[in-house]
Order: sequence, then structure tokens, then C-alpha cells
Amino acid sequence: MFRGPLLDLYAPFHCIPAETGHALKQQDRVPAACNPCERSVAWYIVCITDKQCMVGHEDSSLLRHGRYSGNSGACLPGPENAHRERDMLLKNATIATFSGTGYGLIENGAILTDGPLIGRLGNEQDVARSAPAGAEVMDCRGRLVTPGLVDCHTHAVHAGNRVREFEIRLEGGSYEAISKVGGGILSTVASVRQASVEELVAASLPRVMKLMSEGVTTIEIKSGYGLDTENEIKMLRAAQLVAERTGVRIHKTFLGAHAVAPEFAGRSDEYIDKVCREMLPAAHERDLVDSVDGFVEGIAFSAQQMKRVFTVAERLELPVRLHAEQLSHAGGTEMAVRHGALSVDHLEHIDEHDVLALSGSGTVAVLLPGAFYFLKQTRSPPVELLRQHGIPIAVATDCNPGSSPLSSMLMALNMSCMLFGLTPREALAGATVNGARALGMQDRIGRLAPGMEADLVLWNARDPAELSYHMGLNPCHRIMIRGNWQESPVPTCDPIEQTRPDRSGHPPEAG
Ligand code: NIG
Ligand code: FE
Repeated sequence: MFRGPLLDLYAPFHCIPAETGHALKQQDRVPAACNPCERSVAWYIVCITDKQCMVGHEDSSLLRHGRYSGNSGACLPGPENAHRERDMLLKNATIATFSGTGYGLIENGAILTDGPLIGRLGNEQDVARSAPAGAEVMDCRGRLVTPGLVDCHTHAVHAGNRVREFEIRLEGGSYEAISKVGGGILSTVASVRQASVEELVAASLPRVMKLMSEGVTTIEIKSGYGLDTENEIKMLRAAQLVAERTGVRIHKTFLGAHAVAPEFAGRSDEYIDKVCREMLPAAHERDLVDSVDGFVEGIAFSAQQMKRVFTVAERLELPVRLHAEQLSHAGGTEMAVRHGALSVDHLEHIDEHDVLALSGSGTVAVLLPGAFYFLKQTRSPPVELLRQHGIPIAVATDCNPGSSPLSSMLMALNMSCMLFGLTPREALAGATVNGARALGMQDRIGRLAPGMEADLVLWNARDPAELSYHMGLNPCHRIMIRGNWQESPVPTCDPIEQTRPDRSGHPPEAG
């Protein structure tokens, strides 16, 4: 079973032992109910000392440190307590920091974690000197270390597949034509509505674990296949559970305006009313929404309709993003930029006017080569124009059953180079620093620098361009999220381990 930290450090968190009012003894296990985050499992507090406890589920490993506050029975979290027993010193590493220009490469570098954060980073000697005596040392043997990869656009939570449509398209049918006769997104809506939350989680875990096995530490996951209040909330809850069970960091996006719900066929304005008045506020109320997305396209909604959704998002103080100009030019990009969107995604059909609107706006252009490839599109996003205007470019999988059944971030990097002409450096920046920016998380993740979260990947590679180069080989050695190594759910190759014998004189390697 995949084991890892289960609770988001920043989530609301109050664990109340069932038997309050008595001091817990060492190693006591007390059933606890976790409030107010509506966890679906019972949590346990394991007392380590009379002041310290760990919180978690009975069949998982760690969990999270807290302080047991005696008689009040409350377990108080706090960054100062939420850390590993020992900080970690990664030495002898080639570090692509993405701080500064280019890769921000440091040869013979070291990273010292400080709980869930990066404490120090730089030249090995300097960093090693400042390491506390008890720090756990790992010799990286020259391996490349990058920020944890960020997959900033996915529909990874869904049920069923659309393999029949794949066949129909190969026999000459088009994505739009299939969608117009009730296939496409609506066929996945039918599967998702039939699935329980647990079935959705079970169907989604292999995709998420595959992404993690290739270095992804943060995943954006959209709703958008429920298209009514209950089922949109069910999808977002499933995304939350996937995060709890894998340890991956997630960003949850409400995509109620993905397609017109079948019961509103021919009444798209009325459906948008429902999204604005009922669905989005209900999901937000349950603390399930980090951002709001929509689909502006001939087969979906107009820019004018999406503006209404974005206005509600603004009122709820939620950032917005948009599927824009994917299959045709429908005017979504300009409208989204006017609403300060974090990102506009796809962009095969943007024109110079849109690029001018994007220029200097801070909105990230998210490129999704998996969908371009799988739909056999012929017009690619104007990368050179985006470059000329200095627009930040991110790359993501768009993992979804219809247009991009892709659960490989490394393949997305390769495709962004081969199909769109990104350089390997641009591609990797698109999966780290700019992916984080597309989620509004650039102050916490996407770069390696002191004070940033310790989310990183150790690769069996030395040159960062290798991450875009291989097709199907996975050089991921280990991933760390919030200062904790995650167990790899999929075995990975380890050529460095095989070809480079241990060097004597180095301290024993941890893990
Ligand atoms: O990003 N463009 C709209 N949404 C998805 C596809 C969804 C589907 O076909 O199921 C996309 O391509
Ligand atoms: Fe998408």
C-alpha cells in the first residue's frame, strides 16, 4: 500500500480525542474524530511524549506531529510541530533550482530541509557546515534534483473511459461531432454520476500514482463531469480523498461550466444560472474549491456566459482559469485576462490580439500537447509569439478520458518539445516554476530556494534536458513532498545505482 503523509499542513485541523480529560500515555492510541474537514475515516492520535503526538489513520504510517494540549483534548497543529523527526541533508547533488535565470543550476550542491520547508541550499560545503548534528545525510551521487513537478491541468478524477470514441475518431468521426450527438464529455458525465465517491477514488488512484511515480508532487484536479451540485461536490471530495491517500499536493478546481448538463439541453443560459446560483456557491461553502475553470468553445459556452461564472467567482474571492481557443477562436482568452485569470489553457487558436492581451498580464499560457496529439489537431499554439511577448508558458497532461488519456508528465514534456517546439528548458520550467504560477502557488512550490516547501525530485539523470528527451523511460528515483520522502508506487529503473559503485569515505546513505 502506498503510504505517506495524509493531512495537508494548511488544512483546518482539530482532532478531538474521544476520551478527553486524561493525559495520554506514551504510545496510547485513541480514536479521534477529525473536525471540521469531514474526513470519511476515523483518525487516531498516537502519543509520543506527554507533549507531542502524531495523528493519522490506523492503517497508515505517518502522519503529522502536533501538540496534545492535555485537558482540553485538542491536538494543535502548527508548522513548528509539523516536521520530520530529523531534517535531511541532501549532498553531492546537481540542483536545477529554477531560481534566477535558466535552470538556475548548482553543481556539487546540497539542500538542507527544515521540517516541511527548504532551510538552506547552495554549495555543498557551505550548506553541510550549517547542518545540525542530527541531520540525516543522503549522498545523491551527483544525481539531478529538481523542484517537484506540477501538473497544473488535469481531469484525473473521472470514471469509465471513451475508448469507443477513440475508435470512431480513427474511423473518421470528429471530437465535435461526437460531442454534438451526446457523446464526448456527457458520456463521462453518465459514468461519473453512476459512481460512488469510493469508486471514483479507486478509478483515479492509478492515474495519480503514475503521475507521482514520474516526479509529480502537485496535481490540479478539476470537477466538470458531474454537472449538478451533488456530483460536482462528489468529484471534488474524491480529489480530496486521492490527496489524503497518496500524499500528493492537490489544487481543486470547480469546472461546473464544462458542458451543458443533459437535463438542460438547449437551455445553456439556465444551466449557467444554476452554476452561478447553486453549484459553485455550494462547492465553495464546503471548502472544496481552490479555483474556477470553464470551457469557452462552440460546443460548450460563450465568453459572455463564462463572464457570469467568473463574476460569481470574483465575489467568492476565487481565482479563475479557462479552457480557451482549443478547437476554434471563441474569445475566451481576452475575457479571462480581463478577469485576471491565473491561466488560459490549450490556446491552439489564439491570435496576435490575444497574445497582446496576455502580454504583461501575468496570466500563464498552459500548453496541453497531449490533447493536441490525441485529437490530431493541426494548428499548434503560436509559441514563438508567446516567447516574444515574454508570456510565461506552462505544460500539463490534461489527463482526461476524451481528449488526452495521458498520465505521464514526462511524455507531456517530450511532446511539448517535439510538437510545439519548446526547448527542454522551457518545457521543464513549464512543469515547475510556471506550473506553480498557473495555480497561484508560486510562493510555495515550483522553485528550490530557502523558505519554499521541500517538494523535490531526485532523478537518475545529470542533465535536466534528459527529462524531456526519453520516451517511456522513467528516470525518477525518489520524490519528496513537504520534507518527507514518498514511497514510489511504481518501481523505477536506477541506472546510476547500477553503473556507479559506492564511493568509500562517504557517510552511509539514508533511505
Ligand atoms: O481539456 N476541452 C474541454 N475539456 C477537456 C476534454 C474533456 C473531455 O473530452 O472529456 C480538455 O480537452
Ligand atoms: Fe482540460
